[in-house]
Amino acid sequence: MAMAELSTPQTTSPFLNSSSRLRLSSKLHLSNHFRHLLLPPLHTTTPNSKISCSVYQNSQAPVAVQENGLVKTKKECYGVFCLTYDLKAEEETRSWKKLINIAVSGAAGMISNHLLFKLASGEVFGPDQPIALKLLGSERSIQALEGVAMELEDSLFPLLREVDIGTDPNEVFQDVEWAILIGAKPRGPGMERADLLDINGQIFAEQGKALNKAASPNVKVLVVGNPCNTNALICLKNAPNIPAKNFHALTRLDENRAKCQLALKAGVFYDKVSNMTIWGNHSTTQVPDFLNARINGLPVKEVITDHKWLEEGFTESVQKRGGLLIQKWGRSSAASTAVSIVDAIKSLVTPTPEGDWFSSGVYTDGNPYGIEEGLVFSMPCRSKGDGDYELVKDVEIDDYLRKRIAKSEAELLAEKRCVAHLTGEGIAYCDLGPVDTMLPGEV
Ligand code: LMR
Repeated sequence: MAMAELSTPQTTSPFLNSSSRLRLSSKLHLSNHFRHLLLPPLHTTTPNSKISCSVYQNSQAPVAVQENGLVKTKKECYGVFCLTYDLKAEEETRSWKKLINIAVSGAAGMISNHLLFKLASGEVFGPDQPIALKLLGSERSIQALEGVAMELEDSLFPLLREVDIGTDPNEVFQDVEWAILIGAKPRGPGMERADLLDINGQIFAEQGKALNKAASPNVKVLVVGNPCNTNALICLKNAPNIPAKNFHALTRLDENRAKCQLALKAGVFYDKVSNMTIWGNHSTTQVPDFLNARINGLPVKEVITDHKWLEEGFTESVQKRGGLLIQKWGRSSAASTAVSIVDAIKSLVTPTPEGDWFSSGVYTDGNPYGIEEGLVFSMPCRSKGDGDYELVKDVEIDDYLRKRIAKSEAELLAEKRCVAHLTGEGIAYCDLGPVDTMLPGEV
């Protein structure tokens, strides 16, 4: 890393339009590649407003500001996002909400590449909600993360106020209100399922600890990296200061897939399918619930009378959709996963339509369905739009559902035993059954 030093005058750049005006002050610190666009030549600077930028080898990421002898710690900010700005000054023309900090891990990956631009556009949190993105990657991905940050710069999103990139969760998670944990190791050749649980478990244990220490105490955490239910469990067990209720494992993709399959079979557009629950694990033991789902407000079984298809064809098509996609694409789903992350967050920040619900993998303590406590299990939820949720009480569980839910529950209990050393629950004992029910992307 190289250190560059420059001084700036107090000025406002003529290159910025009024809707996204960034106020430049003596606190300004700029990357070299952007500096020449915004600043007058260095000889016009005042001597007492000193700024030190340390820049990465490619001269793009300033990492520290020195002012009056104090080194400030906004050290992972990227390029244009290191500019200071004044949201208040924009209130003459816009009414902004208070800025929120959103962490995304695996930020240089394919899913993030779709997700980050949706977050920055306002599609998720609304057109009046400025955001700061905190991008977590591995040492190996740092250059790619800079590429991501550059594309975010070039997109000129008015709502995107800060982008930080980093490899240390303790720094990246500082004060975050949302954490979307996508980064996880894929299962390599010859790797046992228990090994994957252990390797990824370590990552999520570390990230849980970091969230516990650094994040906002009411941070909402959405775990996407597989095996996401057990990763979410490990994460929450390592974050005792954060309510367990705030942790989610992404099963919204499965819900969306199930809605699509029912719509196809019934010959209706998919917005006519509601009340779709995915029960259990995000694996091939998951249970897409056609008993309580509705099409055009009617029970699915009244609209689709081929019940054998519901029990077999439909269920299997949802359980194995991820695997089929991998066969076609040669990699896991990315765009539809990003869309389902957007859907999952929007379901928590907007009120659930009357009578409907959504699925999320959440902590089972206090659940009304008789599912073992201490698991992260996909269940039907409703939200008032405040970021929180409650479990739906009036769902019917017949013998068919109960039997399948029990299978997914048994799988999650076995996964939990495998990671006991990571959840503080004693010595791990791995007795995962001979049938491998993990999603094919993990093989
Ligand atoms: C999916 O459901 O598409 C993915 O979770 C599959 C995978 O294993 O990555």
